[in-house]
Amino acid sequence: MTNLKRTHNCGQLRLKNEGEEVILVGWINKRRDHGGLVFIDLRDREGITQLVFNPEVDDISHAQAHNLKPEFVIGIKGIVRPRPQGTVNPNLPTGEIEIVVNQLEIINSAKTPPFSIEDELNVSEDTRLKFRYLDLRRPSLQKNLILRHKICQATRRYLDEHGFIEIETPMLIKSTPEGARDYLVPSRVNPGKFYALPQSPQLFKQILMCAGFDKYFQIVKCFRDEDLRADRQPEFTQIDIEMSFIDEEDIFKLIEGFISTIFKVTQLEIPEPPFKRITFKEAMDKYGTDAPDVRFGLELVDITDLTKDSQFQVFARTVASGGQVKGIKVPQANFSRTDIDSLTSFVSIYKAKGLAWFKVKEGMLESSIAKFFTPQEQIAIIDRFKAQPDDFLLFVADTPKVVASSLANLRLHLANKFNLIPKEELNFIWVTEAPLVEYDEEEKRYTAVHHPFTSPHEEDYPLLETDPLNVRARAYDLVLNGIEIGGGSIRIHRRDIQERVFRLLKIEEEEARAKFGFLLEALEYGAPPHGGIAFGLDRLLRLMVGADSIREVIAFPKTQSATCLMTDAPFEVSQKQLQELCIKLDI
Ligand code: AMO
Ligand code: AMP
Repeated sequence: MTNLKRTHNCGQLRLKNEGEEVILVGWINKRRDHGGLVFIDLRDREGITQLVFNPEVDDISHAQAHNLKPEFVIGIKGIVRPRPQGTVNPNLPTGEIEIVVNQLEIINSAKTPPFSIEDELNVSEDTRLKFRYLDLRRPSLQKNLILRHKICQATRRYLDEHGFIEIETPMLIKSTPEGARDYLVPSRVNPGKFYALPQSPQLFKQILMCAGFDKYFQIVKCFRDEDLRADRQPEFTQIDIEMSFIDEEDIFKLIEGFISTIFKVTQLEIPEPPFKRITFKEAMDKYGTDAPDVRFGLELVDITDLTKDSQFQVFARTVASGGQVKGIKVPQANFSRTDIDSLTSFVSIYKAKGLAWFKVKEGMLESSIAKFFTPQEQIAIIDRFKAQPDDFLLFVADTPKVVASSLANLRLHLANKFNLIPKEELNFIWVTEAPLVEYDEEEKRYTAVHHPFTSPHEEDYPLLETDPLNVRARAYDLVLNGIEIGGGSIRIHRRDIQERVFRLLKIEEEEARAKFGFLLEALEYGAPPHGGIAFGLDRLLRLMVGADSIREVIAFPKTQSATCLMTDAPFEVSQKQLQELCIKLDI
């Protein structure tokens, strides 16, 4: 047990404390021996303070200080004094002072850590994740998690002030319909039966609206067994919101206020609300994605109509078979053959079969395929792009899906290559009016683009049976710099509409009863009109701190293969545990 009770933390002391006797505790960040003096940087969550061990002040602690190593835990007593001239560190908030130590207590020793505790690291992420308790001592991760805490506090304050009630929903549930695979938990007391971990609290928050809570929120873990990427974790956190008697405009207003409030915590400048809006269709047409980064141009231009009778068979045949021809104009570019080959192999990742190109020269097109285009066609293409001499045009002809994904990615690739993205800008955009359903070629049926409880636009009700692909959903996503940070919808609150949507999705009456019977029943007992939204907290934070991955804002994240390297989860279980659960492994 230590005798030293701290009076300050390691980020607190300033010149005004000169002459005070203080007690600090913390970890040894660095030790430097300088002649007779030993300097130690003492670190805790709040910062770093320099300690000086001087044999003339206290020879016992000075002698001990020689043996102190990084990550030892110590306590010291000493006097605050200004640093001598020329030794002030302007990069450190405590950089104008140091503590002259007159008493040292070694509270705990430490093994030599596998990497040093500093932000500039040259070590694999696997090693960082295995020794996460050391990794988390690094100032940048401490800063990220402290910000995470502050954002959660600001979220709670804002939503509380706006009449929202925080209610927990269960973790052991029946499957939710967010479209990923469920994580399953076997029930020992109900052999052969499983709980699912929630992919989101979707059904429960709707039930809470039926139960009259009016405005609900929760900062909640969600679990999705899906292919992981830099911005996806198997368990992640949502800021989940639902409200009654509202329409889209109420949600936009609430959320724009919310975003403005939480960004104030970060001191990042964001645009004044209202945020820009774009329809799903416009986003797909112009950017080839429903989560466009609109900080730069390079918009997609459609020339399908101009090329249907073209002598260039690649284009004409694609159009004849229902495909599209779209392109991107790169102003004043000079691509070599090698550049074009590498762009062609880039788009081939997204299944494009080629990349046609032209250079604009003296009002006409130049390239090996230009001869297939009549002068009128060439002029029409140049006009459509508003192209100038020396602009470069790049085209993909394929199915709308391949055209969209290859050009959306090519657009980003080119923007990065030519440094066109204003990295400091935070650009929010609402994407509205997504289609209610899409056609799943594999399953040969319509599936919900959001989830099956999303309301169609009222004007589109008649299309549910006649033209389902053109039914617009009352759904909205909030996109920040090309990343979907939140999404939600106005829900169906009428039983008859819900049944029509289920019929469209080929969810049979029986199946619907079995899966979501409780919600359908709740809708029959006076359900209010309602809607909501959920934000990916991890994604929001990642963008706030400018990290490459959401793992940088999660205390204990999992790897790309959904493992925890520190605890070694998932793990094998004993035969006895399996027997109790009536489970036999077949692997
Ligand atoms: P959705 O599925 O769009 O909507 O999820 C909402 C937000 O959660 C974030 N997100 C993720 N973050 C990290 N890892 C993941 N695997 C992951 N999956 C999603 C995204 C996304 O925008 N119940 C609906 C919301 C509603 O309709 O109210 C829902 O879950 O930022
Ligand atoms: P080819 O006739 O296959 O030699 O192709 C002539 C040019 O058209 C090359 O530059 C190809 O990269 C390009 N090309 C081929 N298929 C497509 C396609 N589906 N979309 C766009 N360009 C293509």
